[in-house]
Amino acid sequence: MSGDRDDWLAAAADQFGTPSFVYFPDDIAKRIEKLRSAFGGQLDLSFAVKSNPNPALLHWMVGKIDLLDVSSIGEFHLAMESGWDPALVSFTGPAKREFEIREAVHGGLGLLVLESLREARVASEVACASGQVQPVLLRVAPDRVPRGFGDQMAGRPSPFGVDLPDAAAALELIASMPGLRLAGLHIYSGTQCLKPDAIVENYRGFLSIFEDLCEGAALTPDSLVMGAGLGVAYHDGDVPLPLDAVADAILPDIARFREAPRFTKAKIKLELGRYLVAEAGYFLTQVVSIKESRGVRIAICDGGMNNHLPASGHFGMVIRRNYSMHRVGGGEVVEPVDISGPLCTSIDRLGSGVRLPVLTEGDVIAVHNSGAYGLTASPIHFISHAPPAELMLLGGVLHDVSRFLAPVSTLESMSLAAADAA
Ligand SMILES: Cc1ncc(COP(=O)(O)O)c(C=O)c1O
Repeated sequence: MSGDRDDWLAAAADQFGTPSFVYFPDDIAKRIEKLRSAFGGQLDLSFAVKSNPNPALLHWMVGKIDLLDVSSIGEFHLAMESGWDPALVSFTGPAKREFEIREAVHGGLGLLVLESLREARVASEVACASGQVQPVLLRVAPDRVPRGFGDQMAGRPSPFGVDLPDAAAALELIASMPGLRLAGLHIYSGTQCLKPDAIVENYRGFLSIFEDLCEGAALTPDSLVMGAGLGVAYHDGDVPLPLDAVADAILPDIARFREAPRFTKAKIKLELGRYLVAEAGYFLTQVVSIKESRGVRIAICDGGMNNHLPASGHFGMVIRRNYSMHRVGGGEVVEPVDISGPLCTSIDRLGSGVRLPVLTEGDVIAVHNSGAYGLTASPIHFISHAPPAELMLLGGVLHDVSRFLAPVSTLESMSLAAADAA
């Protein structure tokens, strides 16, 4: 932890209190740059809003990220309020209701990602009724997902998309629906992978599916979405993903793929969330009480799983492992301590046997890798504690960008700060 970063975390806790999330968009900018240079500009970047729907963050991304992917009409509205062009938004999600499809289509949605034929029929009717033709992608669930992904969304019975064996027939039907224009395909089959070989094997599988299905349907797609699956090293000892190894291995395949006239003009898009934003965020929680219980030292803090469910290990982790964390202000590593939250349940634990400096009441702990699937992936209403603040460092100023504030005034002041900084 650099001293500078730690100073900002201390200032955030001091000025805005705890619990809180602090985001450093400069880190996201570096990630964007890293992805663009590793893939030689061959892939567009689509940010999965579900990973962090903070309106100020979405606003900051305008012009920096190519596209947004939303998974509910609520996320679509957030994207609109944050200044995004609806034409640059795609809409995934397996349970889209008729009104969600209608509002999105009427709102100028760029790409509707069909997860079923039911959605295709609803969307076609909605579009026809208003004299529109909605561009759509078909989400395909491949037959297999290589080992090494944290969550596997295909290769077994799955609510997501149309199974590969059924995809050709589905494409034929969709192509015949008057309210739809088939613009391409979408695959998202696994998340959180730190193994470059597995990611490359997955992407190769996607390309081969795109080839077969587009050939069979005589489709010249303008959009092909690859669910990135790029993982984050959440825990001490995890080896960060070597992105260059992934890019170097897959770029020749993409070059070959593009040689086919059918694919020369297709935009290939990487859809991803955590790899872009997780490391740019910290969760700050303050020690309220210290207890020694049967030989274990426990620091009981003001924010726990109610604010940060994934760090408590209850968001798809098979074995609970500590997120990397440190005591703000540093200090010698001297003793193992359990970090628990304010809830009346023993599963409200953010760390077990974490090696931290001797903690005292009032100390602030910073949980790393908290910029994705933090606040909005957590049961914040449980036990009615006030929601944590969200803060963002922009133009050398910490802004309160809590999603519960009216976003417009915040966004305006952020724009001013960004302009000042430029
Ligand atoms: C359809 C879809 N797109 C994108 C993502 C983002 O995944 P990640 O944050 O792991 O990059 C997910 C995650 O579940 C997803 O289901």
